Amino acid sequence: MLLDVKNLGVRYRMDGQDIHAVNRLSFQLEEDEIFGVVGESGCGKSSLIKALLRLVARNGSVTADSVNFQGQELLEMPMDQFRKDILWQKIALVPQSAMNSLNPVYKVGPQIVEAIITHKKMSERRARERVHDLFESVGLQKELFDSYPHQFSGGMRQRAMIAMALALDPKLIIMDEPTTGLDVLVQDKILKTLRRIKEDTKCSMMIISHDIAIMSEIATKIGVMYGGGFVEIAPTHDLFKDPSHPYTMGLTNAFPSIRELGKELISIPGSPPVMMREENKCWFEPRCPFATDQCRQSFPEATKTGDHHIVSCLRSADRQKLAKKAKEKATWTS
Ligand SMILES: Nc1ncnc2c1ncn2[C@@H]1O[C@H](COP(=O)(O)OP(=O)(O)O)[C@@H](O)[C@H]1O
Ligand SMILES: [Mg+2]
Repeated sequence: MLLDVKNLGVRYRMDGQDIHAVNRLSFQLEEDEIFGVVGESGCGKSSLIKALLRLVARNGSVTADSVNFQGQELLEMPMDQFRKDILWQKIALVPQSAMNSLNPVYKVGPQIVEAIITHKKMSERRARERVHDLFESVGLQKELFDSYPHQFSGGMRQRAMIAMALALDPKLIIMDEPTTGLDVLVQDKILKTLRRIKEDTKCSMMIISHDIAIMSEIATKIGVMYGGGFVEIAPTHDLFKDPSHPYTMGLTNAFPSIRELGKELISIPGSPPVMMREENKCWFEPRCPFATDQCRQSFPEATKTGDHHIVSCLRSADRQKLAKKAKEKATWTS
């Protein structure tokens, strides 16, 4: 096992109130997986990543029973050791809006060379060679090495940031919305590149997106987030074949798939929860067409519905019946 996260929580203190951005979140990541994390804006995706990488803003606090990466407890490690041994070396990040995080006054290639030399004992010449190789593997022309960020398109800058993340040969690359803001063709090319990188390097990836259709194309496993935690985690194929949480059922209705072009899209009415307190009930209950009194009275613990299929819903035993109903528009409108 590569990463084992148990009962993670992230709270932000603001204006004398707590925002519970991540709640009772658990998941496991094996080597060689591409884990897609999907959920609406505000459900805690970026906070989850920042907690894993210990980059949570100052007004935030992180709690967990365990965040274990290759046998090491990440949150218990002294910060300087974490920065030296883990961040970039073993777990690399392509942050949200990575396209804008290159330094505009330095040429792109030398920026990455610099990043390598700061973290690893390597001669400048070898680092330059490494960056030329990286440019090739992310699909950037060699001539761009000495260009400035403003000479790059959005997609090219995203590729440069992916090259930066790959630079130190990490075990795990975490990407926050890597294709958001790019046009569909460029998105597609970036996904292809990521797939190839995964084949070549054998590193694991955790990719965050609000778009389940995009994740279906690249992820080997998908985790669906709602209210700061995972409501369902399953191998990609199983998630679409046997969606077990009503929110997943709603999400898969709301996104067009290539196979079902022309099908009417059903969206989930209502808005995501404002998470100002710990709740001892299901977060999705107010929007769930299948909620019962029980859903308002206790938090749905995660249960297994298959070998690698985990769902947090009290009604998961009825999931096949519910999934059928979820395909009817009337279920969501009445
Ligand atoms: N530094 C912060 N201070 C206060 N609230 C924050 C901070 N960062 C994020 N939040 C809040 O936490 C919640 C989750 O945010 P985020 O993790 O960015 O979600 P996502 O990436 O899924 O859009 C949101 O309500 C957001 O406004
Ligand atoms: Mg985000």
